[in-house]
Amino acid sequence: MFIAGNWKLNCNISEAKTLSSGIIKCLLNKELNCEVAVFPPYICLDSVKKTIEDSNLKLGAQDCSIHKSGAYTGDISANMLFDTGCKYVIVGHSERRTGKCESNNDILSKVNNALEAGLIPIICVGESVEDRDDGRAIDVIKKQLDESVPKNINKNNIMIAYEPIWAIGTGRVPNNSSINEMLNMIKDWLVNNERDSSINILYGGSVNKSNAEEIFLCSNIGGLLIGGVSLKADEFSEICLMVN
Ligand code: 13P
Repeated sequence: MFIAGNWKLNCNISEAKTLSSGIIKCLLNKELNCEVAVFPPYICLDSVKKTIEDSNLKLGAQDCSIHKSGAYTGDISANMLFDTGCKYVIVGHSERRTGKCESNNDILSKVNNALEAGLIPIICVGESVEDRDDGRAIDVIKKQLDESVPKNINKNNIMIAYEPIWAIGTGRVPNNSSINEMLNMIKDWLVNNERDSSINILYGGSVNKSNAEEIFLCSNIGGLLIGGVSLKADEFSEICLMVN
């Protein structure tokens, strides 16, 4: 099981140090049955890396460039992230697909760059409320998988996160049968497309300490991708400690 805290556009360096050391403190001397990683903004990566050095917390980034190097002002490459001490990178988050017009093809380039750099990409997929209302949710996600998941993957080098857009930051969480339907669909897609079907599949969208235990009951769930609540050291850690 894998629990990820996506801090999004939050925390300056001092706040990032406080948050990461707060999580370490909450998890200290506790039985932890999952891998936990935090995903601070780029500028905090180095400070957080130093803060978590002797702990069991791992480090990830929220995105990487579609390019490897060159004249791409403002971009950060997968190699640079690896060099900074990242183990993971989130790619294809809906806030980037929608807000930054990223295509499935862009995401595939990022995934390939991440794999080549030795990072573990977490590919986010998910449907909008319109897709869901029009009965297109499964088709939309299958297309995202078809066009952004490469062939050369296995459970040690990639993860997929199902994040319905309408559940992100809204307090609306799909019920377990709806989450299960999507997790099973992604599993089936992996089997039918000759990919390793034991790849971890995470759920993300309005996870908190009151609904996490229920979500963990979903079959095929490989972990959680947590946004807002990952900024609260105590609640985020409490969810990590629910894993048994
Ligand atoms: P929230 O947990 O704030 O809904 O965000 C989920 C998310 O987007 C994680 O990547």
